[in-house]
Amino acid sequence: MEEYFPRNTFQDTVALLNSELGPQESQALAYIILDKIFRLSKTDIIVNRQFFPDSLQKKKYNLLVRRLINNEPIQYIFKEAEFYGHRFYVDKNVLIPRQETELLIQIIANYRRWNTPTMADIGTGSGCISCALALAIEHSQLIGYDISQEALKIAQYNAARLGANATFAKLDILKQELPDTKFDLIVSNPPYVMNKEKAEMNKNVLEFEPALALFVPDENPLLFYKTIVEKSRQALKEDGVLFFEINEQFGAETLSLFEESGFTQPKLYKDLNDKQRFASAVLQ
Ligand SMILES: C[S@@+](CC[C@H](N)C(=O)[O-])C[C@H]1O[C@@H](n2cnc3c(N)ncnc32)[C@H](O)[C@@H]1O
Repeated sequence: MEEYFPRNTFQDTVALLNSELGPQESQALAYIILDKIFRLSKTDIIVNRQFFPDSLQKKKYNLLVRRLINNEPIQYIFKEAEFYGHRFYVDKNVLIPRQETELLIQIIANYRRWNTPTMADIGTGSGCISCALALAIEHSQLIGYDISQEALKIAQYNAARLGANATFAKLDILKQELPDTKFDLIVSNPPYVMNKEKAEMNKNVLEFEPALALFVPDENPLLFYKTIVEKSRQALKEDGVLFFEINEQFGAETLSLFEESGFTQPKLYKDLNDKQRFASAVLQ
């Protein structure tokens, strides 16, 4: 059997990925590849003890590197993404949960002392926000809506796996009304990327993630926000709160939308990169 050394394999992997993915991403992925394929930890790489990969592992390694060079997101390859400390099943039918969205869960959980709240998540996708919230807020009930039947199946599967008290239903928020139930809290991370922003986006997003989850028309970037603010006026209880993840370019416009629709206490929140990324307001 041929002997290999972890540090060489690590450096070779970074070199293979580097031209397409850049040094930072390549290093992060190289650690994951060595762990997943050869069961080598970071410590194994530092200690550099020889290892003896078999032919199946070598084949898997080559295939994985090829898919990554082709910009396929690693979360879709392994059908798994981590969000707010939980593991979610993901595939090409749902957006990969973003790290910045984790902060939204924290903002909502700490917003006030919630007392057995009923909650709705519009555009649930993988169910990441729905499940994380249902697990974070005790004795809560949550319903997640999406236009995509495939996404709803995935959200349902994730809720069952994680033991989250969440149910899911098909709804086109642009064409249908929310049900008569009155919610204490409505949250949404709707599509908010303008078509003209495509030019600056990475291939791994453009070529692999569902367009339905991402894009809005250039001439109406707040389409979902306007609709959700309007429909939440009926669907929220008095003193109920609406939370959004937003496009960083439209903080002020989102606050105006709240105010024009009779919401109070409009507020913006920054993400980890200091960009205005979330908004909330209260229905009085
Ligand atoms: C930005 S993704 C958010 C997914 C997930 N909540 C997250 O934060 O990762 C937007 C979601 O809205 C859904 N969506 C798009 N158009 C919709 C519509 N008209 N009605 C309801 N959901 C819609 C998409 O299928 C997608 O799952």
